[in-house]
Amino acid sequence: MEKLVNLCKRRGFVFPGSDIYGGLGSTFDYGPLGIELKRNVREAWWSEVVRRRFDVLGLDSAILMHPRTWAASGHLENFTDPLVDCRSCKQRFRSSDLSTQNCPACGGQLTEPRQFNLMFKTFIGPVEDSASTVYLRPETAQGIFVNFANIVDTQRVKLPFGVAQTGKSFRNEITPGNFIFRTREFEQMEMEFFVRPDETEEQRWFDYWVEERLNWFVKFGIRRENLRLRPHDLEELSHYSRGTTDIEYRYPFGWGELEGIARRGSYDLDRHSEMSGRDLSYYDEESKSRFRPWVVEPALGLDRAMLAFMLDAFDEDIVEGEERVVLRLDPRLAPIKAGVFPLLRKSGQPEKAWQVAEMLRKSFMVSYDQAGSIGRRYRRQDEAGTPFGVTIDHQTMEDDTVTLRDRDSTTQVRVAVADLADELTRRIGWST
Ligand code: GAP
Repeated sequence: MEKLVNLCKRRGFVFPGSDIYGGLGSTFDYGPLGIELKRNVREAWWSEVVRRRFDVLGLDSAILMHPRTWAASGHLENFTDPLVDCRSCKQRFRSSDLSTQNCPACGGQLTEPRQFNLMFKTFIGPVEDSASTVYLRPETAQGIFVNFANIVDTQRVKLPFGVAQTGKSFRNEITPGNFIFRTREFEQMEMEFFVRPDETEEQRWFDYWVEERLNWFVKFGIRRENLRLRPHDLEELSHYSRGTTDIEYRYPFGWGELEGIARRGSYDLDRHSEMSGRDLSYYDEESKSRFRPWVVEPALGLDRAMLAFMLDAFDEDIVEGEERVVLRLDPRLAPIKAGVFPLLRKSGQPEKAWQVAEMLRKSFMVSYDQAGSIGRRYRRQDEAGTPFGVTIDHQTMEDDTVTLRDRDSTTQVRVAVADLADELTRRIGWST
């Protein structure tokens, strides 16, 4: 993990947040490469879960929601962690993380556990009192439930159908850590899939989405052996869940949650109907009856997905007798698709390379680099996960062909400049 954290900082994927002020408790900033990777992972999720389907629609709801949302959703009452304080050194711990009765830092005596709500509070408007208290959303899901009637009334949807959104969520985690695995501000990609209130139907779609989501990670480069499914025990289920299965990843610190797929039943629509007084039922033409649908919810953290993709892609090998660090990212996710290099800084090669880079920039993120030996330039791109290298050499000046180098095999072929964009599109599989 440390090697990846260093690479992320060195290459501009992820920086510690507020770095010049010494950082701020597990916040991170995404640099120029990190933001590209993040956009590509989000796009890979959106295209698979929303755009390629007829039965899932998109939404982008506000982060600040009416405070009664959180009373209805049960987060005010239940979104808590048991917390203990050390009477001597004053450090705080999640009591479920502790295996001893005493402080793990100094051995001091601990207080009795008390419930600590994980939602961040703030105020809406200029007056700071209880009437103006609002919360930063701890999950994007509630924005979907409160818009259920809007979607049904405007979109002519038919069950089963899903509503998806991506966006920031906030949790005042007591024990954030493991780099971007658990932070207090993170992005979620969630989809609420509404089905008939029927156990067989629910089970069918639950199994379907577990399989779909597992396959998505494999499709975009995570090795199957580093993923596993873990159904939750009854006592660890979230307050809204009738059953949850986690897709876990084998992180360097052990197996841990990557994505959760939950059966939320009609819990949320029931509670919001009750609390808002609005009818959140669905009229079923087939059975000529009204009911509140049940929900199957695949919920993934974007930052956590990035971590898993980067960890799985991280590799060290030997090329031409030299050690290299390489991020074997799927070309669709890679921040930069191709590095463009003039072999020499003379004979018209830099000008030609710049022209090629400008042409490719119309379709792909490419970088131009003329500094240092060609071997060093390749290594720099390997480390950034760039799948292809395009080198302009003396032959280019004669026949308008370039060498195209593959990051993983390091093999090189000659390609005509006129065919280069098509060849890259073909090799990437999708342009972003
Ligand atoms: N709407 C359901 C829900 O929010 P969750 O299991 O609490 O369920 C879903 O969160 C996903 O969001 C997790 O599987 C994880 O990928 C991500 N996630 C949750 N808390 C996180 C945190 N503090 N930092 C980073 N990602 C987090």
